[in-house]
Amino acid sequence: MLELNKVSYQHQTGKEQVLSEVNLRINENEIVLICGKSGSGKTTLLEIISGLIKAHKGKIYWKSKELSDRQRRWLCGVIFQFPERYFIGSTIGKELKIGQKSIREESISEVLKKVGLENINLKMPPEKLSGGQQRRLAVAAQLLRNPNIILMDEPTAGLDWSMKNDVSKLIKKLSGNNTIIIVTHEPNIFEEYSTKTFYLERGELSLLRR
Ligand SMILES: Nc1ncnc2c1ncn2[C@@H]1O[C@H](COP(=O)(O)OP(=O)(O)O)[C@@H](O)[C@H]1O
Ligand SMILES: [Mg+2]
Repeated sequence: MLELNKVSYQHQTGKEQVLSEVNLRINENEIVLICGKSGSGKTTLLEIISGLIKAHKGKIYWKSKELSDRQRRWLCGVIFQFPERYFIGSTIGKELKIGQKSIREESISEVLKKVGLENINLKMPPEKLSGGQQRRLAVAAQLLRNPNIILMDEPTAGLDWSMKNDVSKLIKKLSGNNTIIIVTHEPNIFEEYSTKTFYLERGELSLLRR
C-alpha cells in the first residue's frame, strides 16, 4: 500500500498551500483516478509522490515503510503530460535506452509487446509514430525501469478520440498487475477498470467514487 499521511505543500512564490494535510491510501494493483480543476495541485501531488519535489510536511509510506524522496524516485515511474515533447532519442530504440545502456534486448521486446508496439521499427525516429503510439512509447520507457507505481499526468490530453481509446486500452491491459495513479479531466475514459476516483480542491483530496 502507498500511504500519504498529512502531506502539505506550498510553492515558494505561492501565497496559499497547494496541498493541505492530504491523506491518501492506495492498495497494490489498484488503478486510482485523481480529478480536479486546472491549478488545483494535481501535478504537484504527482511530483511529491514520485519524489521529484519535497513535501513541507507529512510522511509517505510504501508497504508500511517510510520512504525518502530519493527512494520514491526509484519506486515511481512518471509519465508527464505531453511526454512526446521530451523525447530526445534520435530513434525509438535509443529513446528506450536513455539512462539504461545495459538493458537487454529481450526486456525491450517484452515491454514493447506489453504496450502494443511489438511490430515497430526501432530505427525509426519517435516523431514518426502516431500520437497514441508516442504515448505508448513513453509508457514503455517507464515500464523498462520496472517501477512499483506508475503515475500518469493527463495521459489522454490533446489526443483525438481514437487515440484516447488507444491509451485507455493500454491502461486496461496493465490493470491488475500494476499500481497506477492517473490524473485526468476525463475520468469516464478509465471508469471501467479504475478502482477509486479522488477529487482535489482547495488543497484537499476527497473520495468521489469507489
Ligand atoms: N513553480 C511554481 N511556483 C509557484 N506556483 C506554482 C508553481 N507550479 C505550480 N504553481 C501553482 O500551484 C498550483 C497547483 O499547480 P499544479 O499542480 O500544476 O495544478 P494542476 O496540475 O492541478 O493544474 C497552481 O495554483 C499553480 O499556479
Ligand atoms: Mg497539471
